[in-house]
Formats: sequence, structure tokens, C-alpha cells
Amino acid sequence: MQGEFSGNIHLLNSQEDLLRLFRESSAAYSKIAILTDENTRDHCLPLLGNVPGTNISIPAGEENKNIGSAEKIWGELLAAGFDRNSLLINMGGGMITDLGGFAASVFKRGIDFIHVPTSLTAQIDAAIGGKTGINFEEVKNQVGTFAWPEKVLVFPDFLKSLPHRELKSGFAEAMKHAIISDPAYWEFLKTFDLTTANKEFLNLIDKSIQIKMEIVEKDPMEKKERKMLNFGHSIGHAIESFLQPGLLHGEAVAAGMICEAYISSKILDFPLSALEDIVCQVNKRFHKVSWENHQTDRIINKVYHDKKNKNGKLLFSLIEDIGSCIVEQEVGIDLIHESFRFYQNKGSC
Ligand SMILES: NC(=O)c1ccc[n+]([C@@H]2O[C@H](COP(=O)([O-])OP(=O)(O)OC[C@H]3O[C@@H](n4cnc5c(N)ncnc54)[C@H](O)[C@@H]3O)[C@@H](O)[C@H]2O)c1
Repeated sequence: MQGEFSGNIHLLNSQEDLLRLFRESSAAYSKIAILTDENTRDHCLPLLGNVPGTNISIPAGEENKNIGSAEKIWGELLAAGFDRNSLLINMGGGMITDLGGFAASVFKRGIDFIHVPTSLTAQIDAAIGGKTGINFEEVKNQVGTFAWPEKVLVFPDFLKSLPHRELKSGFAEAMKHAIISDPAYWEFLKTFDLTTANKEFLNLIDKSIQIKMEIVEKDPMEKKERKMLNFGHSIGHAIESFLQPGLLHGEAVAAGMICEAYISSKILDFPLSALEDIVCQVNKRFHKVSWENHQTDRIINKVYHDKKNKNGKLLFSLIEDIGSCIVEQEVGIDLIHESFRFYQNKGSC
């Protein structure tokens, strides 16, 4: 891919290409370690054949994207005598690419790392764009860095072992890419068959990476435009943090996109027909997330931790139409409550 940061992203069509790039990318280092979780160790690592180096494996699940897991990685790197000319390869979903990217970016003030994303969420989003992070005190991504991987090796065949529910979770981020910037892509996704063959996924992954990188290249440090990528996440992250473990990232973001599309209809005149369309498409793909009414205040409290907020003001990325997103829109607490009621009462189309 072209561009200052996109040049290190490789979308690979064959296992031979994956192995070749993997060998080339890791040859110059004094030591290499491969970080996996227990699922990607069993299902994905074997596709690389005999890899020289240490395998660091941690239990799967978002609840392990924490400082304890980072300490385990640093401990194993130290014990194995890793110097600054060492490489960490993060092979997994977004939990592993976020955690491993973070651990590498601060170990000995930063060692090189490569992402080998294995879930759809990681291939189109988490491994793309240079954000790393861990959760802290039950709030998502509160500690992290901007740090660029040396390479990102995206191989869609990894998705063959990904559970279908996880695949759908990643699809929510593709929907977000379409909603914030590309009406034609939105139409393409509406009829996308998630049980489809590899070639169709290649097109989806390619398009989503392009959209994300176009935005990231304009604003790598998320001062302004990059905040568009947070559409659905102000509320999505709050729901996700509150309902952990059990709810997947994309499932929470899907719910967040309905709430934030509703808020957009109130603040930016986002057309009601487009709101209906989003509700319909999300409900077609995702089960409704539920919680007790008395828990709503506690979920909304978590919105206050969102990193886009400034001076106590809740700032959201909202949409004025499909394909057009505006950042830093102040949202009042009453409207957030209203959007939760809209989400809970709105049936499918
Ligand atoms: N840094 C960013 O810009 C960014 C963007 C989006 C999401 N994220 C983060 O990504 C995380 C969510 O990513 P995720 O949904 O990939 O979660 P995940 O890494 O927890 O993976 C989901 C599940 O799928 C399993 N898995 C992954 N690949 C597999 C494969 N090929 N075969 C079998 N099992 C496989 C994992 O073991 C895990 O059980 C969240 O922490 C979120 O905050 C970060």
C-alpha cells in the first residue's frame, strides 16, 4: 500500500508470500519472540512452520489486555536476554496487537514489532494505524502509545479458524468505516455474505484498510480527523467496559453506532431514513445487547472516561449523512439517555 505509514502494510494472497515476508522481516534481529494467545498459538502459529524464537502465550480474552499481561511479556523478554535489536511479533486479534504493540513500544524504551493480525477486527482496524494500549481499572485503552509496527502482515486465510461470532464482531468495524466515509462501501456491505469465500474478504479488508489509512495519514496523532474512527465508540466502549466479560468489542460498537446515529439525527439532522437503514442493518447482523434499566447510569458514567472528551464536555464523532462524519460534537447527558431508550425500544426493520 502507498503512503507514509501505509507502506508497511502487506495484504497477502498466499501462504508462500506470508512466509517469505515473515523471513525477510525477521532476519536482521538478534532475537525474536512471537506473542500469541492460546487460540492463535494453536490455530495460527502452525501456519508459519518452524519459527525460531520464543513463544510467549497468554490466555485469550479482553480481560487479559492489562498490565499483568504486559508484565509477563516484559519478564519473558528480560529472562531470554532480549536487547534493543530484538523483535516482537504480535500474532493474534486486536487484544494481542494492542497489548503486544504497547509492551514492545516501551520495553527498553522501544523495540521493533510486527503485527500478524488474525481476526477480522485486527486485520481491518486494530493492527492498522499505530495505536497500542491496555485497559486499566476496568476502563478501555486508558494506557497506551502511538507506535508504528515495522510491518503488518495481513493474511485473510487466518480467518478460516476464527469463530463466526468473532467474524461478525469485526464486521461492525467495516460497517463503521462505510458509515463515516463511503456510501458505496455501505451498499456493498449490506449484501455481504459473511460465509463467503476468501476473495470477497480480500476486497472487504482492502477497502477498510484503505479508508482507515486515508484518515490516519491525515492525522496520525488523532488531533482531529482521526477522531472520525471513533464513531460508535463513545457509547460502544462504555457498554463494552460495563458488560465485560461476555460482550465482544464489535457487538458493543454495533449498539454504540445505533445510539450515536440517533444522537446525530437530533444534533446534525442525520436523515431519519438513514437512521432506519443503520438500525435495520445492525439488527440484521447483531443480537440486541441488554442490560437492566437501573444499570444505565453506571454505563453512562463510563462515557465520561472517553479520551475524546475535553474540560468535562462529552465530545462525540457524529454523522450528518452516510459517508460524512463530523468530530468534536458536544452531547448532553439527557440526549445520551434518550439514545439508550431508542436503542432498547427499537425493533428490527
Ligand atoms: N488499536 C486500535 O486502533 C484498535 C481498533 C479496534 C479495536 N481494537 C481493540 O481490539 C480488541 C478486539 O479485537 P478482537 O475482536 O480481534 O479480539 P481478540 O483479540 O480478543 O480476539 C477475539 C477472539 O478470537 C480469537 N482468535 C483470533 N484470531 C483467531 C483465529 N484466526 N482463529 C481462531 N481464533 C482466533 C482470540 O483468541 C479471541 O478469543 C479490543 O481490545 C479493541 O479495543 C484496537
